[in-house]
Amino acid sequence: MEDVLFRYEDDTLALKEVTLSIEKGEKVAILGPNGAGKSTLLKLAAGLLFPDEGCVKLFGKKLAKKNAQNLRKKVGMLFQDPDDQIFMPKVWDDVAFGPINLGYNEKEVRGLVQDALKVTGLEGFEDRVPHHLSYGEKKRVAIAGILAMKPEILLLDEPTSNLDPKGRIELMDIIKKSCETLVIATHDVNIAAQIAERGIVLNKKVVASGPIKRLFLDGEMLEQNNLDAPENTKLFLSMRESGYDLSLPLSTEDAVSELKKKLPR
Ligand SMILES: Nc1ncnc2c1ncn2[C@@H]1O[C@H](COP(=O)(O)OP(=O)(O)OP(=O)(O)O)[C@@H](O)[C@H]1O
Ligand SMILES: [Mg+2]
Repeated sequence: MEDVLFRYEDDTLALKEVTLSIEKGEKVAILGPNGAGKSTLLKLAAGLLFPDEGCVKLFGKKLAKKNAQNLRKKVGMLFQDPDDQIFMPKVWDDVAFGPINLGYNEKEVRGLVQDALKVTGLEGFEDRVPHHLSYGEKKRVAIAGILAMKPEILLLDEPTSNLDPKGRIELMDIIKKSCETLVIATHDVNIAAQIAERGIVLNKKVVASGPIKRLFLDGEMLEQNNLDAPENTKLFLSMRESGYDLSLPLSTEDAVSELKKKLPR
């Protein structure tokens, strides 16, 4: 994105002066307070919205109304609200919709849908009416629909909201493995630490960008943008302030290995 400015029809300014680039293979978390423009940014990246000023490029090509449909084929976008995404009468049809449109044959579609339902924990839901599912189940259906398309780029807007804790970690691990380039907008700092190497803090414009670990150590910046560091990082930070020589972990695994090094058995 180069110097992007975007206003909604009612004149609300959602983004300004946004310049950033995400390379193939990167896993990036977009962080920021409510109304920061995270969802808007993902929609611009997916060619669902177009900037008022500046330009957005996808696969190196400038996105415009005339080529967006074509460029979008290799991009999977998960909307923040699954009700905006799910529209077929049965779960199976909803997950199959993307692969059918991409031209996969019947056998391929069956395989892709089965795999996607399996990894999202939705086996047995094939004939359920999406509209009757719980919010977390709908979110899983929406994720399954995207995974079934085997996109090169995944743009996920709050993928873990309303998922149960086990599902949250398992699904994010699957997502991390299933796609090369991943951009995730989230309020869940633990998930951001689990799956992203780089973070971009947004608050109408880009406030900070860099290795996610570094961002989580900038207390003042986090505070100013209604953000928080992962619990493990906060705990170890406070131990360090009390004089303990500990390196700062992002994940529970990092924390455990650091404690094992430092504590007698
Ligand atoms: N359709 C719309 N019409 C007018 N204003 C909108 C519309 N959609 C979003 N906005 C406004 O644009 C700004 C950015 O919204 P956006 O949804 O991108 O924020 P966000 O960072 O995703 O927030 P959240 O953390 O709550 O999901 C907000 O001020 C919001 O009120
Ligand atoms: Mg949002």
